[in-house]
Amino acid sequence: MRPRIHYVDCDVLIVGGGFGGCGAAYEARYWGRDLKIVVAEKANITRSGAVAHGLSAINCYMGMRWGENRPEDFVHYVRGDLMGLVREDLVYDIARHVDSTVHKFEEWGLPIMKDPATGHYLREGRWQVMIHGESYKPIIAEAAVKSAEVHNRVMVTHLLRDKTDPNRVAGAIGFHMREGTCYVFRARAVINAAGGASHIFRPRSVGEGAGRTWYSPWSSASAYALLIQAGAKMIQMENRIVLARFKDGYGPVGAWMLLLKAPSTNAYGEDFEAQRLEEIRALVGPYADTRPMPTCLRNHAMLQEMKAGRGPIYMHTQNVIDSKEKEDLGWEDFLDMTVGQAVLWAAQNIDPRERPSELMTSEPYVMGSHATCSGAWASGPDDCAPTDYQWGYNRMTTVAGLFGAGDTIGGSAHKFSSGSFTEGRIAGKAAVKYVRDHATQPPQLDEAQVQELHQAIFRPLDTYAVNRNEIVAGSVAPHYLTPLQGLQRLEKIMDEYAGGYSLFYVTSAPLLNRALELVAMLKEDLHQLGAEDLHQLMRAWELHHRVCTAEAVIRHTLFREETRWPGYYYRADHPTPRDPDWHVFTASRYDTRSDTWQLEKLPVHHFI
Ligand code: FAD
Ligand code: ADX
Repeated sequence: MRPRIHYVDCDVLIVGGGFGGCGAAYEARYWGRDLKIVVAEKANITRSGAVAHGLSAINCYMGMRWGENRPEDFVHYVRGDLMGLVREDLVYDIARHVDSTVHKFEEWGLPIMKDPATGHYLREGRWQVMIHGESYKPIIAEAAVKSAEVHNRVMVTHLLRDKTDPNRVAGAIGFHMREGTCYVFRARAVINAAGGASHIFRPRSVGEGAGRTWYSPWSSASAYALLIQAGAKMIQMENRIVLARFKDGYGPVGAWMLLLKAPSTNAYGEDFEAQRLEEIRALVGPYADTRPMPTCLRNHAMLQEMKAGRGPIYMHTQNVIDSKEKEDLGWEDFLDMTVGQAVLWAAQNIDPRERPSELMTSEPYVMGSHATCSGAWASGPDDCAPTDYQWGYNRMTTVAGLFGAGDTIGGSAHKFSSGSFTEGRIAGKAAVKYVRDHATQPPQLDEAQVQELHQAIFRPLDTYAVNRNEIVAGSVAPHYLTPLQGLQRLEKIMDEYAGGYSLFYVTSAPLLNRALELVAMLKEDLHQLGAEDLHQLMRAWELHHRVCTAEAVIRHTLFREETRWPGYYYRADHPTPRDPDWHVFTASRYDTRSDTWQLEKLPVHHFI
């Protein structure tokens, strides 16, 4: 089946209309008034991405106008949380611009809570401010819709290369999930802002609860796979994140811990973090005394406690709700951002004024915007990036004309929603500059590549149509694999071999090597994916993207013979972090033609 091709010509193509994508559209329009800016979004931009359901806080805000923090302070915080391993130039660049983004959000109608005593934004913690954020995404999306031509329901499956220079991007290809047409975008620059990755590792919630993960189930790793397949250099793909969450509903803990100051203890009411401090010092040295304690080490303390049979771990909400305002705040925190947690409280007869709630560590996720920084190796700002972190345009990957923002860009953690939008703005401005600088040398589409991909993208529909009559019983089909079957196979491999929750996040070289064998077999079977409709075709390509990203995670984890962030994963064959090897970035590059990966170490510079 070869549906007709719909060609879209543009100057800047933005893949993904989430927070990074909306920021890119807004800023690209500002600098490129005469340019054609296009967004390709696989859902509907009004309610797409990780903020689809709303949020209750903005987790990255300096408060410089009130003298609350300086960008340098933020760099120190992020560096401490990631145990030294961050791109300080990128973190600083976001910190110095993020406040103006948040002020714009307020101007556009986002209600930000105020501290009645000072009139300043109500702080959740030092870096976070509280919002009434159920409608956060529609408010921010409006700015992007006014700035760009948005193509909703178009999933991008591959980036396209320039005919004469394979290391230059020429656009992207995908399909419309309602019309079934093939979309080819011919673009002078591309910004990949396609979000992070859930469902790489088997989630704790399976069966009918499978959609209940912490990071959105529709965050399907396109950000990474599109880049990897285009030959971009990636970093820190081993830096998967595990989060402490309210058990089963995945309700975030920040507001409860930082604003309401609810203590968490083991089943015997003991402060296990304090009790395990010496033990953590022995493992990671001075990082045990970084404050706040690094996110991974807080997980580590919790995991040790549970292994010792001293769980459940409890968040004592009942100790801190002493007024109607605090009770309302606690409920709104979940109703704004994780409705399922409020439903779970109701379903399990938990009144947070009376009973504590269980905490649990989640399955791992691959992201670049939370307390973790997997993603592309990107050029930094020209006024502060060290020379080996800088090759022309801010946030450009190692592929010419290909930029990124938000979860896509590696090395700079703690961006969250506001920082991702800010990074989109930075990338948008730089992409416009790239387009102007190359005005007389537009990229040339490689028609042979387009034809090949046009054929490949729709193949799962043919595979299904041809083989569906061979179903032998129920839904058992000998000649095709459904996307869900493939996904469950991937999740099982990652969980059991690459450091998922079922082995308490433990992995090792033999386990990782076995994972690679099993992923190779899974990749062979992906040629036999069957899709019964366009929605399943999307699922098929999401699976391709997840498998490619999972392979990067395995290879990076195998390359580093150490446990870099205890509490995120453990290399049981190399249980401790080891300086000086520890303080390097892990980088990889995939070569599509030879199907080989090259891994290397890159230096971490501390200069702020
Ligand atoms: P996203 O916003 O997820 O955007 C990615 C976009 O790309 C999506 O619209 C998606 O549909 C689209 N896309 C994906 N693949 C394709 C493809 N192949 N083709 C076309 N389009 C594609 N941040 C805070 O500041 N405060 C909080 O309190 C907070 N809490 C959170 C709570 C939860 C439950 C979650 C899930 C996230 C939370 N975050 C919070 C984090 C914040 O949402 C992310 O950091 C931010 O959204 C990342 O921005 P992004 O643009 O990289 O990804
Ligand atoms: S959210 O992004 O899903 O809302 P979460 O609620 O865990 O995540 O975190 C919100 C913010 O609080 C983040 O900036 C996170 O780093 C921070 N945070 C969460 N728990 C703690 C803690 N115990 N100590 C310090 N910071 C924390």
